[in-house]
Amino acid sequence: MLKPSFSPSGLSQEKAGELIENLQDRLVALVDLSLVLKHIHWNVVGAGFLSVHEMLDDHVIGIRQMSDAVAERIATLGGVPNGLIGHMTKSRDWDDYSVGRAVVPAHLAALDLVYDGVIGDHREAISYAADRDPVTEDLLVGQAGKLELYQWFVRAHIENTSGELMHGGAESELEAASTAATADPLK
Ligand SMILES: [Fe+2]
Repeated sequence: MLKPSFSPSGLSQEKAGELIENLQDRLVALVDLSLVLKHIHWNVVGAGFLSVHEMLDDHVIGIRQMSDAVAERIATLGGVPNGLIGHMTKSRDWDDYSVGRAVVPAHLAALDLVYDGVIGDHREAISYAADRDPVTEDLLVGQAGKLELYQWFVRAHIENTSGELMHGGAESELEAASTAATADPLK
């Protein structure tokens, strides 16, 4: 376990080390999410293009603020934040976003799965921080609330009139994209 040479007053270096490792995973996830959002911003096509293209840039701004806050918390705890591409591709346990050019419902259905993953892991990181440091916990709680708001913005585009998500519980991005692309929004 990493042990920094200093930590904030009242927080042991052991706990700071544990938090740094936990936060480093969140940093990678948030930087990767910001890149996925830009990828969709560039590759989304079809009806509703402009509003989604612009909405995604709002998400990018918010997610970049989150990754900056997490990186600076790592440094505050005595660690060395790393959001470089080489480190990220070695340390993450998921593949690149898998959809290229696609229509609005297809990309947003796949993005809903991406948000599911990031938010679920953020909630686990909140539980981990709760046992160690309320300041780090507070940071992550605020971010989770905003991430869930962003996911609702995405879901509102792929919700049919029955209130169901049009990807129908798909488990992969490609499956979600192809299911939503042909779904009936008036169902
Ligand atoms: Fe742009």
